[in-house]
Amino acid sequence: MSRRIWLTGASSGIGAALAEELLRQGHRLALSARRAGPLQALATRFPEQVLLAPGDLTDAEQVRAIGARITEHWGALDQAILNAGTCEYVEVRDFQAAMVERVLRSNLLSAAYCIEAALPLLRAGRQPHLVAMGSAVTLWPLPRAEAYGASKAALRYLCESLRIDLAGEGIAVTLVSPGFVDTPLTQKNDFPMPLRWPVDKAARHIASRLPARPYEIAFPTLFITGLRLLALLPKGLQLALGKRLARAEPRP
Ligand SMILES: NC(=O)c1ccc[n+]([C@@H]2O[C@H](COP(=O)([O-])OP(=O)(O)OC[C@H]3O[C@@H](n4cnc5c(N)ncnc54)[C@H](OP(=O)(O)O)[C@@H]3O)[C@@H](O)[C@H]2O)c1
Repeated sequence: MSRRIWLTGASSGIGAALAEELLRQGHRLALSARRAGPLQALATRFPEQVLLAPGDLTDAEQVRAIGARITEHWGALDQAILNAGTCEYVEVRDFQAAMVERVLRSNLLSAAYCIEAALPLLRAGRQPHLVAMGSAVTLWPLPRAEAYGASKAALRYLCESLRIDLAGEGIAVTLVSPGFVDTPLTQKNDFPMPLRWPVDKAARHIASRLPARPYEIAFPTLFITGLRLLALLPKGLQLALGKRLARAEPRP
């Protein structure tokens, strides 16, 4: 059955591929991102299914306006997929709190604004489902990922706590925890990314798992299992392994 879905971060990477997949399955999608062009391109191809809802999700006012637009057009949501996010790496010799603030604003606070907008709509929806894009980084600390990892760890807690509080209302909460996926976000990385998945494969995997409304969609299995095993090692050994991954000198 066709579902009314709000998908954020639909202009690029995982969100754009997931939008394609869900639109091909016949769902109706409200699409958000700052760049309206890629969203418009999807609306042109799927005119009956796409509701354009562009905006900067770090701006609470803009998110409220998007919520009002969805309310006006659909009056309810069956699913909200909060996928939008960014990644910046810490240079520890020049640690900047402003960068941490920026990443938390993009990955955590924007999700909170979206949750505020989505919950009243989900309460009016069918089999309501809230989905957030976390990261496998929360399973094991990686060097230079202090800000990104903190934002995703906080998002994990937010989702796991919300799952309990929303269970009584029948609103399911799923956290998606990808390993490396080939997108513009990871194409900037200058370090090895083991078991990196093509973006279409990741989108198909996520879309195929969503109907079961699981607690978590974590992939690739081998990568996730490896991180979970590493996290069981004594802290001293974890630090020794982490130091081997850390770079000796900051890049120019
Ligand atoms: N790729 C990976 O390996 C990987 C692994 C784990 C988790 N993730 C997570 O997956 C999500 C998608 O990442 P991706 O790899 O697909 O990256 P991406 O290609 O850079 O896509 C990020 C999306 O988020 C949107 N976005 C970012 N900031 C926004 C803002 N302030 N307001 C509205 N939209 C905003 C971007 O749209 P605009 O620029 O047009 O606004 C874009 O559509 C992120 O949450 C990321 O942390 C990715």
